[in-house]
Amino acid sequence: MDDDSTRNFPDNFLWGAASAAYQIEGAWNVDGKGPSIWDAFSKLPGKTFRGSNGDVAVDHYHRFEEDVALMAELGLRAYRFSIAWARIYPDGHGTVNEAGLAFYDRLIDCLRAHGIEPIVTLYHWDVPLALVDAYGAWESRRIVADFDRYATTLFKRYGDRVKYWISLNEQNEDTRRAFVDGLHPPAVQDRKRFYAANHHAFLANATVIRSFRALVPDGRIGPSLAYAPAYPASCRPEDVLAFEDAEEQTSNWWLDVYVHGRYPRAAWHALARQGVAPTLLDGDEALLAAARPDFLGVNYYRSQCFAANGPDGVGGGPINTTGQKGTTPARGVPGYYKTAPNPFVETTHWDWEIDPVGLRIGLRRLTSRYGLPLLITENGLGDFDTVSDDDQIHDANRIAYLRSHVDQCRLAIEDGVDLMGYCVWSFTDVLSWLNGYQKRYGLVYVDRDEQDPRELRRIRKDSFHWYRAVIASNGRHLAT
Ligand code: BG6
Repeated sequence: MDDDSTRNFPDNFLWGAASAAYQIEGAWNVDGKGPSIWDAFSKLPGKTFRGSNGDVAVDHYHRFEEDVALMAELGLRAYRFSIAWARIYPDGHGTVNEAGLAFYDRLIDCLRAHGIEPIVTLYHWDVPLALVDAYGAWESRRIVADFDRYATTLFKRYGDRVKYWISLNEQNEDTRRAFVDGLHPPAVQDRKRFYAANHHAFLANATVIRSFRALVPDGRIGPSLAYAPAYPASCRPEDVLAFEDAEEQTSNWWLDVYVHGRYPRAAWHALARQGVAPTLLDGDEALLAAARPDFLGVNYYRSQCFAANGPDGVGGGPINTTGQKGTTPARGVPGYYKTAPNPFVETTHWDWEIDPVGLRIGLRRLTSRYGLPLLITENGLGDFDTVSDDDQIHDANRIAYLRSHVDQCRLAIEDGVDLMGYCVWSFTDVLSWLNGYQKRYGLVYVDRDEQDPRELRRIRKDSFHWYRAVIASNGRHLAT
């Protein structure tokens, strides 16, 4: 971490931070916005931590100027945020809502006025509720045309000012939680529906990339995956096979389709044997193959170990949403693989492996397999943060986490990875989908809890000051 060895971050490296509309905006029914699936789901009893919902969140919708001023003070070069589909098309596809478009005009212009590059995510899980009611959203092919209409509207409106776009955020994680674990809407456990919804999302991704090429020819677009590189739990051949299956079924299934337009072969055969492979229609493969992205977005939080799983072994299920260490049960696919502890790394309170070297391993794997530039679109530590007596947040654990991961980015660049940038998750504290405000990620603290929004005061955490020095030195000063 000495000054000389960190000079490899390119001069145009996108030092950024990230967020998602539902998790920060609030104003859930303001200025013509329609309801999203999360506006409905979060209000069902027992679905979220202490019944938390995004009605107010951190009220970024009304406070974005204050937030962008803080980004400028931090020296951010890029800010990744998502657009709420239901603000643009309140019913998913009918009449466009000019007030919704105008909000993002103001945000984008404000960012650019401060020299901050906007990175826009088209979709971060908040599908318009009307499309769920009409045809089950991602469970129907009809969503492809509606998603393309929405994306096209954004490309035309913002394509002159926004050059970096994320098509879908963590398609793998959202659909797994929705259709395998039964935790996100529609909260079922049905792998046939899981793979069908994913196939429609792949078609939607490819379709909007095709539109993008025509409308924003000088822009760059790619999907973001929740990428947890798989490790074998041991060198027992059965565990190594389980690890191979896990890497293919938890990551390559998405990445191979995004980049090459085809499903990985062993995984396809495994699914076909189980009767859960998606239905491919004429033209699907050609569409998928013609939509190679410009880069891959990588959301990295952890690596994961895998061991063999018997035919009667564990499947999907609950995750740790309490922050009580050691409460995450093993999960997997019966007959193939299941998660196993890694005795060589620490974990967070939520049992996520803290593995900075895993980031370097993952970046190298993706580079070797896909040969595309990579953009880290999320990386951060979820932790219990407290305001100390001096009205500060001394988040030394987060600084240690971020520092070690940025350092591995530097080493990955030395290894030959074409890394475009690094976005901390998250800029301000955000509403966690299932963990309320107990699990915080921000560089900026927001003073509220699940029940009481209080004043929503913003407080710079110690990590804010640390990251400012990192950016100012273009990654040369990683120490506090
Ligand atoms: C990613 C998502 O999965 O991880 C974010 O893209 C999310 O939206 C983040 O907030 C952290 O997840 P969690 O469950 O710890 O809040």
